[in-house]
Amino acid sequence: MNKHIAVINGDGIGPEVTAQSVRVLNAIAEQFGHEFTYTYCLMGADAIDKTGNPLPDETVEGCLNADAILFGAIGHPKYDNDPTAKVRPEQGLLKLRKSLQLFANIRPVSTYAALEHLSPLKAKQLENVDFVIYRELTGGIYFGEKKVAEDYSEASDLCVYTKTEIERISHLAFKAAQQRRKKLTLVDKANVLESSRLWRKVVQEIAPQYSDVVVDFLFVDNAAMQIILNPKQFDVVLTENMFGDIISDEASVISGSLGLLPSASVGAATALFEPIHGSYPQAAGKDIANPTGSILSAAMMLDHFGLHKEAEVVRAGVNWALANGFVTKDIDPVNYYFTSTIGELISDFVHNRVATDVN
Ligand code: IPM
Ligand code: MN
Repeated sequence: MNKHIAVINGDGIGPEVTAQSVRVLNAIAEQFGHEFTYTYCLMGADAIDKTGNPLPDETVEGCLNADAILFGAIGHPKYDNDPTAKVRPEQGLLKLRKSLQLFANIRPVSTYAALEHLSPLKAKQLENVDFVIYRELTGGIYFGEKKVAEDYSEASDLCVYTKTEIERISHLAFKAAQQRRKKLTLVDKANVLESSRLWRKVVQEIAPQYSDVVVDFLFVDNAAMQIILNPKQFDVVLTENMFGDIISDEASVISGSLGLLPSASVGAATALFEPIHGSYPQAAGKDIANPTGSILSAAMMLDHFGLHKEAEVVRAGVNWALANGFVTKDIDPVNYYFTSTIGELISDFVHNRVATDVN
């Protein structure tokens, strides 16, 4: 299979973790006889430094022309500490999501036996935890009208949702639930927000089309608590943009490290694959970041291409590395391996595993 991938390294640890995913993808291509080609595109603080624009037109074009996008991370402290900056790295990612209509962000949460000790949860609570968050990605408060008074005495962000925006992601989430344990939990704040009440109404209207799926509704404050108290109750969690952002970072601690979680963003055009973590500037350039979230995002990309066997080999490589103590500093601050070493080990695993399979 020939696939063309747009690679956006982005900021901070983005280039380092993404390089390991490309390495693993190349190992897959070699072993399975595929051809993956790459176009590197600029976005974020990196793009602002080089072009003045967080999302140059060539990047959008490069992404539209690709079969998939592999993205690293975005953000730089110099903007975080300047709330008045008009041009910001994050604008690049938000504009890209909007331009490609990547309306559904899919974030699977799983646990690893070898990392149980890192989770703040007790081993018993971790058993059978396996859920996926369907986060709406191109609407809500992130994209509603923004205002700030010239003298900075007042500011506002509007949270808007249309029925169509809610419907399209809800259908994806219901379909995912049908393939899984047939439970869907809508997380909202319908006791307070009009936009949340619309979510509830639309989901209730759609539910009869998926009569084999049990639907549950949770207010986001309660959901935040339930994710820690009893995470195994969840199967598919459907939620709006900002609630999804918050509860997915929260959910990552269940696994043991934010560095482990992958995501896929899908919509009308090219799909995008990125780890859920941020740019982690303190670790940038040190070869210590965890490439797992990115490598598992690459596995989700392989699934998206229909290359399920290949995706399984990548996941097996990640499991093997974690189970054998081949981990980065976030997992084991004393006996740790470098980012590039983990990428190399997982690539070697891909080569060896497939060679063994063939014999
Ligand atoms: C994420 C990130 C982004 C978001 C930021 C960088 C704009 O936190 O992908 O979760 O809030 O969506
Ligand atoms: Mn986030």
